[in-house]
Formats: sequence, structure tokens, C-alpha cells
Amino acid sequence: MKIRVVALTLALVAVAPAYAEPSAARAAGLDVRDYPWQAAAGEKGEALERKGDRKRGEEIYALCRSCHLPSAGGRADGSIPQLAGQHGSVLIKQMADIRGGVRDNPTMYPFAAVFTDPQDLADLAAYLEGLCIPSDHGQYEGTDADRQVAKGRALYEKDCRGCHGASGEGARHKFYPVIAGQHYRYLLRQMTEIRDGKRRNANPEMVGIIGKYDDEQLVAVAAYQASLRMPGKMCKAKTPARKQ
Ligand code: HEC
Ligand code: HEC
Repeated sequence: MKIRVVALTLALVAVAPAYAEPSAARAAGLDVRDYPWQAAAGEKGEALERKGDRKRGEEIYALCRSCHLPSAGGRADGSIPQLAGQHGSVLIKQMADIRGGVRDNPTMYPFAAVFTDPQDLADLAAYLEGLCIPSDHGQYEGTDADRQVAKGRALYEKDCRGCHGASGEGARHKFYPVIAGQHYRYLLRQMTEIRDGKRRNANPEMVGIIGKYDDEQLVAVAAYQASLRMPGKMCKAKTPARKQ
């Protein structure tokens, strides 16, 4: 019942244009109003304007560790995404979308629903963004891996690089996620859901592109994405999770 009330409050906040004049976030190029595919702008906008406190974020992350792991590296079986090193803007958007019901995530929803202050999202994002990306993430493991990666590379260069970057680094100010270091199985599952219209908060331009991919193309482009490396941002497994 309580969760329903929170969700309803968020839905109401989302329709209210509660914006003041140019803010710090706007000055930094981070404004959800520039992105029509963004929903639940109220909470997201507020969280983006706050300065995150890493220490506090680390404490709140205790709620998340059991699933996303202490390294925030997620699981290679694709059930749980890697969060370490993701752009703070992306983390805030995804958490707000999950809280606002725009991205379905019944497993995590009860954990995401407990926050009452956008500052919590800002703190979590600051903490997670500062972690290095564990480099032992799940890869495509078929015997034809080289062929799949090569085929995926051609697709990625043509259709995805413009937004997700040459090394899978995404773009912070545009809410384009870091892809490097993400698990192959998670990537494949997300793209399948994006293609099939099940991830409703996705960028429509990308939906138009991925919507035309067949299953084999999705496998190839996921294999390539999982092979990407972001120099200087990745660390070996079990080394301290903080960025140098
Ligand atoms: C019960 C397990 C569970 C817990 C606890 C949990 N999550 Fe998640 N989280 C998931 C799953 C599962 C997904 C992927 C859902 C999907 O496939 O779309 C996810 C996705 C996410 C995403 C989106 C990542 C992306 O790449 O788009 C973010 C951000 C996130 N979680 C943050 C958190 C934070 C922060 C906490 C703690 C407050 C938390 N999660 C607690 C299971 C959990
Ligand atoms: C116009 C820019 C754009 C293009 C082109 C684009 N993407 Fe995306 N992509 C995004 C944005 C924005 C998101 C985050 C969407 C959301 O909020 O859920 C995203 C999310 C994703 C995700 C989910 C990441 C996660 O952590 O959950 C995957 C996987 C992905 N894109 C792969 C691709 C692939 C593969 C291509 C090319 C075939 C592609 N994208 C083309 C902008 C783009």
C-alpha cells in the first residue's frame, strides 16, 4: 500500500512543471526537458541538480549489494547489470524510471521504492559512478566468437557508435549509457526487450534502429559490445573497487 502511494505521488510530481530558472544541472547541459523520451522528469530533474555525496551513497548501497554485488559488477548470467562506472546521469534516470514505473523491474522495485528524497539517488549515483568497471564481465562464449564480434563490430560502427562511443563510453550529458564492461547476456536481454517494445523508457531513435535487427544481429552486436574496453576505467576482479 505504501509503495502504491509513493508511486502515485511520483506520477503526480512527473506532470507538474516544477522548474525554477536556469539551474546548475541545466548549466552543465543536464536537463531532462531537452529529452522528450524522458518521463518522471520531476524527481529526475531534482536528483540531477543535487551534488552527490559518495560516502552517503556507499552507505545506501548496502541495500543494493545483495543483488548488484559489493563491486557493483552485477552477474555474468545477465540477470543483474553492472553498475560500476556508469554515468551518474544514466544511473539517476534508470532509478527514477524504475521508481516511476516507466521501466519494469519487479525484482528491484521494492528496493528502489523506499527513497523519499532525490538526494538519495544523487548520492548513490555519485558513489557508483566513481567505481572502476570490473573487467571480468560476461562475454559471448560460442566457438564462433571471433566471427560474431567482427560482424557485431560492423553493425555497431554503423548504427551505435554515434551515441555509445568508439569504446562504449556513452555520453554523460545525453544520458547515453556506458556499454563497455557490461555483461553479454544482460546486453542481449536488454536489446531484445528494447526491440520488442518492453523497455518503454528507451530512446526512440535507438528503438527505430534496433527494431529492425533480427535475433542473429542482436547476438553479434551484443558480443561486440561486451568485448569493448574503456582504457583507464577498468580494473581486474577483486581489486579495490574505487577508481585510482
Ligand atoms: C533484488 C535484486 C536487486 C536489488 C536489491 C537492487 N537491484 Fe538494481 N537491478 C536489479 C535487476 C534485476 C536489474 C535489471 C532489470 C532489467 O533486466 O531490466 C536492475 C537494474 C538496475 C539499474 C539499471 C542499470 C542499467 O544498466 O540500466 C540500476 C541503475 C540499478 N539497478 C540500481 C540499483 C540500486 C542503486 C539499488 C539499491 C538501492 C538496486 N539496484 C537494488 C536487481 C536489483
Ligand atoms: C540516438 C542515440 C542512440 C543510438 C543510435 C543507440 N543507442 Fe543504445 N541507448 C541510448 C540511450 C539514451 C539508452 C538509455 C535508454 C534508457 O533510458 O533506457 C540506450 C541504452 C542501450 C542499452 C541498454 C544499456 C543498459 O545499461 O541497460 C543497450 C544494450 C544499447 N543501448 C545498445 C545499443 C546498440 C547495440 C545500438 C546500435 C544498434 C544502440 N544502442 C544505438 C542511445 C542510443
